[in-house]
Amino acid sequence: MSNNLLTVAYIAASALFILSLGGLADQETARKGNLFGIAGMVIAFTATAWVGVSNYGVLLGAIFPAVVIGAFLASRVAMTSMPELVAILHSFVGAAAVLVGIGNYLQTGQPLLGAEETIHKLEIFIGVFIGAITFTGSIIAFGKLRTLISSKPLMLPARHLLNLSLLIASVVLGVWFMGLESPAGLTPLLAMTAIAALLGIHLVMAIGGADMPVVISMLNSYSGWAAAAAGFMLSNDLLIITGALVGSSGAILSYIMCKAMNRSFFSVILGGFGANAGASAGGGTAIVGEAKPTTVEETVELLTDASSVIIVPGYGMAVAQAQHTVYEITQLLREKGVNVRFGIHPVAGRMPGHMNVLLAEANVPYDEVFELEDINNEFSQADVAYVIGANDVTNPSAKTDPKSPIFGMPILDVEKAKTVLFVKRGMGSGYAGVENELFFRDNTMMLFGDAKKMTDGIREGAVNSHQVSPRFLSSS
Ligand code: TAP
Repeated sequence: MSNNLLTVAYIAASALFILSLGGLADQETARKGNLFGIAGMVIAFTATAWVGVSNYGVLLGAIFPAVVIGAFLASRVAMTSMPELVAILHSFVGAAAVLVGIGNYLQTGQPLLGAEETIHKLEIFIGVFIGAITFTGSIIAFGKLRTLISSKPLMLPARHLLNLSLLIASVVLGVWFMGLESPAGLTPLLAMTAIAALLGIHLVMAIGGADMPVVISMLNSYSGWAAAAAGFMLSNDLLIITGALVGSSGAILSYIMCKAMNRSFFSVILGGFGANAGASAGGGTAIVGEAKPTTVEETVELLTDASSVIIVPGYGMAVAQAQHTVYEITQLLREKGVNVRFGIHPVAGRMPGHMNVLLAEANVPYDEVFELEDINNEFSQADVAYVIGANDVTNPSAKTDPKSPIFGMPILDVEKAKTVLFVKRGMGSGYAGVENELFFRDNTMMLFGDAKKMTDGIREGAVNSHQVSPRFLSSS
């Protein structure tokens, strides 16, 4: 393949990646966006392998097992475990940037001179630095999301000073590294790698569970910059463009997540939210009171008698995989003339867009799904707020309790509905570990049980007691 053809292939792949990002920005075009991304990656991979590889046996030997393992793991991963998968994949990008940087530094070949040499060394040093932070930070994020590590923020004394010292030590090592010839600079390079790895661990350990959405998108951004740095080291324009696209879109996503949680980006990455919380187990003020349990039969009556219902799904619906049945219930209710809509919080579930993906999977029409800012005013006119497997995103302590780890996060105002119906297994708290005083309010009813089992019961009840035609119900 000639250089011109390679350039054309890279331009085509870059354009497809941009179209892919554009497509992924909207639920209706997300599938198309994915296809653009796949096509771009096939072109990028084929073109790069065509020109840059002399031994295809080695390439296939490395890629084939990776493709098999990746395809096997990705096809088995549950939707609820997707954020963990994304976190661990980010760590691979970080590790790749570190290995490419060190390998590139040790590579013998035509020596670079003057400014070219300085720039190349800087690329290596910065690339390895970002890569090492991304690698260890993503592993800690994986551990927190998998609950292998406590989601509470690690609050070391003088933690900001520690971060600053690690940063200064890296800069000093950088100056040392720049003054040495290869391979003598390997010592400061490896020392900086260890320090950056420690910084990655400490930065993510200091972030509380409630702020994990920002961490995930931030590490996504870091992994993009690490890839871009690897692109500079390898003089691969496409890797630079792709890395920059991932880095900047991750940064924009972090900004959106921060806005959704009413956090400042710097206070999140410097960590420690929720550290002063304390009255109850997980933070926030302890609540006393009695919850009012209800039954499937009462719930059916409540929903079919209502004229307006807003459904608020959360992590529990994802765990129970109840989205299909929930949608069937909405169809039954609509047939009875009930106005049913979905209200989605931007950080509901465990990854950005988690609820939108589940509802799209259940074929819920997009015009029935509303974002927080579009639905919040509607709760006061709704008869029922039907909260299924959601908790933190409805917790009024975010508005009223400065001690709460989620204080300041905008919430869905379900409390304003005439009746709030929670479907959950028990009185368990959500991801942020905060009690929810809504459970004890006069207008709240609790339907205790697994979300799937309960929604199955509600669907049956709605079909039986109101003789609604089940013709459109799927066999699920
Ligand atoms: P959560 O506040 O985590 O609450 C989920 C609730 O679902 C729990 O209280 C649990 O109560 C219930 N539940 C669990 N399994 C269930 C099942 N099988 N059937 C019925 N209920 C079940 O969820 P949320 O309201 O969606 O809020 C999301 C939280 O995760 C926020 O704190 C957010 O910051 C955090 N987070 C979000 C993301 C992103 S990007 N979305 C990433 C990381 C963290 P029981 O145990 O009593 O059933």
